Amino acid sequence: MVIMIFVLLLLFGVISSWATDYELMLEDPDIFSPCTEGPPGSIDARQAVNFDDLVVDQEADILRISGNVTVVWDVQPTDRITARLDFLHYNRGSWEPTVISMATQNFCSIMYDKNQYWYRYWTRYITNRHDVEKNCLRGPATVLVHEPFDLMLKLENFRGPLLRGRHKMVVLFNALDERNIPRPNPICLEIRGEPLKLN
Ligand SMILES: *[C@@H]1O[C@H](CO)[C@@H](O)[C@H](O)[C@H]1NC(C)=O
Repeated sequence: MVIMIFVLLLLFGVISSWATDYELMLEDPDIFSPCTEGPPGSIDARQAVNFDDLVVDQEADILRISGNVTVVWDVQPTDRITARLDFLHYNRGSWEPTVISMATQNFCSIMYDKNQYWYRYWTRYITNRHDVEKNCLRGPATVLVHEPFDLMLKLENFRGPLLRGRHKMVVLFNALDERNIPRPNPICLEIRGEPLKLN
């Protein structure tokens, strides 16, 4: 769930300075899907994060989120975490890239950056910030405690090409050791859905 929120926020962030409003219709009621073409050894969101203590109630286009998640991703405390997001469009039977993609070589260094959209929409609601700043998304027992917050399933002010049909976000987190060798268990997840134009 945390990762889902993170990627939604990344997406909102990428497109929030443009001009059409969309509502996001999620395809999978569980929100996350495993990657269809993930890297070898990759694990999905539910293998990386325990969501048992998180409560998510959907009311129309709002997700009301409260509770805790535990990152069980088994990597080392000194690993560097990279993140990458790609936004793809389903067209004539295959997934094609769009111009939207993002990557960071050090996710932990900007997890609490106030200028990042995920801070405004997500990480500011983590109340045990001091522990989380140290551990970031590194498990295998990092608890993120949230105060209750709402997440809108909306893309506002989108000013790119018209979005139509199925889309997906593919998100990949890698943990790299001190020699920059990736650990064998990256996290790969997909969120599939359809943006519906509102105006
Ligand atoms: C979340 O963690 C806090 C601190 O450990 C605890 O007080 C609270 O009961 C937990 N909430 C849930 C829903 O597990």
